[in-house]
Amino acid sequence: MTVTRSVITGCGAYLPERVLTNEELAGTVDTDDEWIKSRTGICKRHIAAKGEFTSDLALAASRRALAAAGTDPDEVDLIVLATATPDETFPSTATRVQAGLGITRGAAFDVQAVCSGFIFALAVADNFVKAQQSKCALVIGAETFSRILDWEDRNTCVLFGDGAGAVVVKATEGQGTNEDRGILSTHLHSDGRHHDLLYVDGGPSSTQTTGHLRMQGRDVFRHAVTNLSAVVHEALDANGMSADDLDWLVPHQANKRILEGTARKLNLAPEKVIITVDQHANTSAASVPLALAEGVGDGRIKQGDIVLMEAMGGGFTWGACVVRM
Ligand code: ACO
Repeated sequence: MTVTRSVITGCGAYLPERVLTNEELAGTVDTDDEWIKSRTGICKRHIAAKGEFTSDLALAASRRALAAAGTDPDEVDLIVLATATPDETFPSTATRVQAGLGITRGAAFDVQAVCSGFIFALAVADNFVKAQQSKCALVIGAETFSRILDWEDRNTCVLFGDGAGAVVVKATEGQGTNEDRGILSTHLHSDGRHHDLLYVDGGPSSTQTTGHLRMQGRDVFRHAVTNLSAVVHEALDANGMSADDLDWLVPHQANKRILEGTARKLNLAPEKVIITVDQHANTSAASVPLALAEGVGDGRIKQGDIVLMEAMGGGFTWGACVVRM
């Protein structure tokens, strides 16, 4: 029996040119490099230029992913873009990327699950592929969180940055075993009771303003380690795997201590965890595809490797995905 799988054939990343260091931030809010590094692992972040939008970042990452996959934009029949910072309230940022790539067929739409957005978008694309409704999908995570930060709030403004990552996903026939390349499983969760721990205090329907990110950091931290460990175990169990079977963990890059806490709970060697949070802080939906692109680009993640991606974000939302690359 043949089974259709979603194979990741190319990855791309884009970070805006402007780098904002911890030292620079210490000039505007009451913080210092030592505090930020020791509590988060973050050294710097990238900030989109004036007039540079989420769709511009997404387009740049998408072009790189398509080039890496050797795929012509004409082949793409689905674009799923994860973002919490769209260019405009509508239309979707995905349609801006679609137009930028010169694609006029298929569907393009956004999904919103904040920092878990890329995992949710990948799950949506995977289900389109498995349902034979897409043969070639572009899945993107792109954010300009710099536009929703309160730059006077040291509790939050030091934690985030802008960026985009993208992957090309192609429908491929296989035998349906764990040996086939492609997405082996996806696992999504939400629990809306935790709204007040992490949210933006604005929006078109409530305040008619964009608003700013608000967070109870310590509570988010606690939930993150618990939920991420649980969903990683769920994903491993679903595939009859243990942490030893993983070649790589590609986690959401929120905070080095959350990454280390999750890896420790799994008994996973730190060398198997892709870490990029030091270089670009938390880029929300962009962070998982940025880390994946880094691991693939520098040759650590190779074809055939088993990769587990996981993320958690506002809502709360959280999820995981197991892939044979
Ligand atoms: N510089 C200096 N001091 C600071 C800063 C700063 N940038 N920010 C906060 N502080 C102070 C606080 O005011 C507090 O001072 P006080 O004790 O006098 O009141 C002190 O540092 C300790 O604050 P805590 O909140 O207890 O510090 P904690 O060790 O919990 O670290 C942090 C804070 C980094 C936010 C941590 O809780 C965290 O990473 N939480 C997860 C948040 C997160 O990653 N959110 C992203 C979205 S969700 C996700 O992606 C998973």
